[in-house]
Amino acid sequence: MENSDAELKEKIINLKKGRNAIILAHNYQLGEIQDIADFVGDSLGLSQNAARTEADVIVFCGVHFMAETASILCPDKVVLLPDMHAGCPMANMITAKRLREKKKEHPKATVVCYINSSVAVKAESDVCCTSANAAKIVEKLSDTEEILFVPDQYLGNYISTKTGRKMILWPGFCPTHVRIQPQAISRRKAEHPQAKVVVHPECRPEVIALADEALSTGGMCRFAHETEAKEIIVGTEIGIIYRLRRENPGKIFIPASEQAVCPNMKLITLERVLWSLQEMTPEIKVPEKIRLKAKAAVDKMLEIV
Ligand code: 13P
Ligand code: SF4
Repeated sequence: MENSDAELKEKIINLKKGRNAIILAHNYQLGEIQDIADFVGDSLGLSQNAARTEADVIVFCGVHFMAETASILCPDKVVLLPDMHAGCPMANMITAKRLREKKKEHPKATVVCYINSSVAVKAESDVCCTSANAAKIVEKLSDTEEILFVPDQYLGNYISTKTGRKMILWPGFCPTHVRIQPQAISRRKAEHPQAKVVVHPECRPEVIALADEALSTGGMCRFAHETEAKEIIVGTEIGIIYRLRRENPGKIFIPASEQAVCPNMKLITLERVLWSLQEMTPEIKVPEKIRLKAKAAVDKMLEIV
């Protein structure tokens, strides 16, 4: 007989206590996963929480690079990713080998690497960033002649415009965010003329140009609390709408595009979280040699923010 959501949640909560586990969930996760999480947040908040937790086990409800980052920061903990297939297609648009080749073309460049990347790519980079702190990280590199920004060309382009720093951009992109078209934003604005527009910096520049703010998912949650606006058009993966509505019952949130769905984020279900905690698998573990090189880039970011 199948368990109901309530039964699954109860079993997860009990097992989590027994295993001294913490559940970290990204803002794009399904509502029922957000409900059972100890912390729901953006990539930066998730890394910071992973770095300081005293739990023995981290159940990462997100995608592979996020669990990998937790493993880079916490080598002594068991890091579980309830579905091994939950990857990030953007992170797969660059490899360490191709990055090494590019570095040879630009030997003086400082490599700034978006956290949406593999441990091997981080190990080839000088400093990591997330969408929440990318501008701050780039501004810190005042004595660097050249910056190579990988792998998201749109985040890179946005940060370059914001900071006035010219950067060499890797041609990666997020397949979910590029589905948000400028026409969709214009249509929503016409339907809701009083609304504010927030979009993720992974969106195309034409989309960002139509927005009031380009923010990380954590930044969007803060914006939603603070703004006087009663209607907010949200240009990012639609999973965040659940959290925004729950935390701001008096406000109206309008997804810019119903097509902005990250299928990888949706692979994590209550059934898989329970199974993962029962079987203590699939575990994400990074080899020590590469971990230390990647950790240097992640640590440098965490020192700055
Ligand atoms: P945030 O760090 O803003 O949550 O973004 C992560 C991500 O994967 C966006 O697509
Ligand atoms: Fe990767 Fe895009 Fe999914 Fe974020 S939304 S995890 S960048 S594919």
